[in-house]
Amino acid sequence: MALRVGIIGAHHWAEKAHLPGYAAHDGVEIAAICDIERDRAEALAAQFGAKAVYTDHRAMLADPTIAMIDVCTPTATHLPLSLDVIAAGKHVMSEKPLHTLAAPAFDAARRASERGVRTKLGFTFRYSPAIRLLKHWIDAGELGEIFHIHGLEQNSQFLDPDFPLRQFDVTAPRDRLIPASIVGYGSHLVDLMRWVGGEFAAVASSMRNFVPERLVRGLDGRQRFQVEDGTVALVDYADGAQGMLQTSYVAVGNYPGIELRVYGSRGAAVARLVTEFGVAETLHRATADDVEFRPVDLATADLPPGTDLGTPWPELYFRNLIRFFVDEIIEGRPEECTFHDGAKSQQIVDAIVAAHFERRWVEVGST
Ligand SMILES: NC(=O)c1ccc[n+]([C@@H]2O[C@H](COP(=O)([O-])OP(=O)(O)OC[C@H]3O[C@@H](n4cnc5c(N)ncnc54)[C@H](O)[C@@H]3O)[C@@H](O)[C@H]2O)c1
Repeated sequence: MALRVGIIGAHHWAEKAHLPGYAAHDGVEIAAICDIERDRAEALAAQFGAKAVYTDHRAMLADPTIAMIDVCTPTATHLPLSLDVIAAGKHVMSEKPLHTLAAPAFDAARRASERGVRTKLGFTFRYSPAIRLLKHWIDAGELGEIFHIHGLEQNSQFLDPDFPLRQFDVTAPRDRLIPASIVGYGSHLVDLMRWVGGEFAAVASSMRNFVPERLVRGLDGRQRFQVEDGTVALVDYADGAQGMLQTSYVAVGNYPGIELRVYGSRGAAVARLVTEFGVAETLHRATADDVEFRPVDLATADLPPGTDLGTPWPELYFRNLIRFFVDEIIEGRPEECTFHDGAKSQQIVDAIVAAHFERRWVEVGST
């Protein structure tokens, strides 16, 4: 019997990334779509064949035949909606971040495990075929002892001051730097760097505003806010490796702009997730004996059915993410990329922000 799924939030990202993933999975039935704007829910229900439409998620949660819920709403609603789903005893996939503080995210992870439901956080880039192959090489020892991990998430999305910043708190103080790229992009990036390199022990960082005035959604005309457009950080890993990372809203280049470089005693690999000339990603690898980086043929990697490297990245990666979560549920496989991972990522972002403001190395909590 198909896994019956309900979606909360029926706008751009649900249409572009989440719903195509469920539609492509043979084991899923898209049972219901909920949005506080009824016309949005109705439009996507018609497009993706869902029979039920709701404007109140609690009414959808009352349907005992729905086993899993997908939360694809604005950031501030991720945690309360996910807690309601957990309380209803259903598996939950939430967009990131679960919360902008680590403690409530850890609490949600605990509640899910007490209730016996599975969680997944929308860390899109863990589901890149190139990143998964790189992770497999590390786990199999093919790169040897890991010395250095370099992570970038950067593109020029907000270089133009007249391109409005979204999900921005218009009541934020104007005389203080407001962490932004490290929160929006950084939560993905530190999750990737922790997934491939293990726990972070301590971080040092520098954050900066580069575009002094910009449009922000919710206010008219350019505004003078000190939005953090760029962060660089150094990482001491618990296992002894060194890391460095950068998030940037203003580094010229295309989406999503992830680059992960891993250097070990036996070899090194560079995954580049930047859509260029119609190709979503590339992977290169060198060995200690053959130091010139060679391209790896990703056409033979584990791509989700019906996709290729020309598939737009939101659909390519989310089809994979949803495929993994649904299969984890149906086949009882081990969990990965859970709410606990989301909380750990938030804890690291918090430490990077504290390191900048306090001008010192900050230990990352061991929760
Ligand atoms: N993982 C990624 O790479 C990635 C990329 C883009 C967006 N996102 C995230 O995906 C989420 C959705 O993005 P979007 O661009 O579609 O946002 P959006 O704001 O355009 O749409 C969100 C929808 O949720 C609905 N909604 C809000 N509160 C609701 C509630 N309580 N119950 C039911 N519906 C509710 C809104 O009416 C709206 O239709 C955001 O959190 C965004 O940050 C993630």
